[in-house]
Amino acid sequence: MGLFSSAADQAKRAVAEAALAYVPRGQVIGVGTGSTANFFIDMLGDLRQQIVGAVASSEATAQRLKKVGIEVLDLNSVNDLPVYVDGADEISPDLHLIKGGGGALTREKIVAAVARQFVCIADESKCVDILGRFPLPVEVIPMARAYVARELVRLGGAPDLRIGVTTDNGNCILDVHGLEILNPIEMEREINQITGVVTVGLFARRPANVALIGGANGVRRLEARA
Ligand code: 5RP
Repeated sequence: MGLFSSAADQAKRAVAEAALAYVPRGQVIGVGTGSTANFFIDMLGDLRQQIVGAVASSEATAQRLKKVGIEVLDLNSVNDLPVYVDGADEISPDLHLIKGGGGALTREKIVAAVARQFVCIADESKCVDILGRFPLPVEVIPMARAYVARELVRLGGAPDLRIGVTTDNGNCILDVHGLEILNPIEMEREINQITGVVTVGLFARRPANVALIGGANGVRRLEARA
């Protein structure tokens, strides 16, 4: 059951604060997108003198980072990214994730791929046993939209075009309902292989390393099962 919004915000604030402990001083940090990441960005502002800068997973995050005085760096100019902090829409016990509710899945996946450690921050309503209740976002090249939708139906999903949304990369998003994702690694691979798909918002081949989960009893830390 979801938390009431003020309790959820409190939980998001708590995990954002807990994530500050993972920020490596004197280095560049990767920063994600969404309301939980926004709490983190606002707190990261207080550490701006202690980090070199940040790589942003979206234009919205880049704007917010700049607003709090943090330099935003191009990922191509960064050789080492020790940590990436970001939220999620669903988190499994293996720390496989569904992401992309905010539409930033492609850049999020790129930054996560480069980062050595992915710290996921979320309130406890995001924890599930099996991924798929949250519609799975898939970023698609616009001319392939109908073809990709048909292929997703073949995989058992019910794709819905996210109306009025164009991603930072100029593409559209299909939100796929009705999937029970029993094998996230295999499904990520399968959807990635559909021609016209840019990114699927399943983060299973590169899961989070650590999840900081906020709830009524404070913040608990989960690590990926061996
Ligand atoms: C954006 C994302 C976000 O991390 C995800 O949607 C969670 O957002 P929020 O922290 O607002 O619940 O993947 O593309």
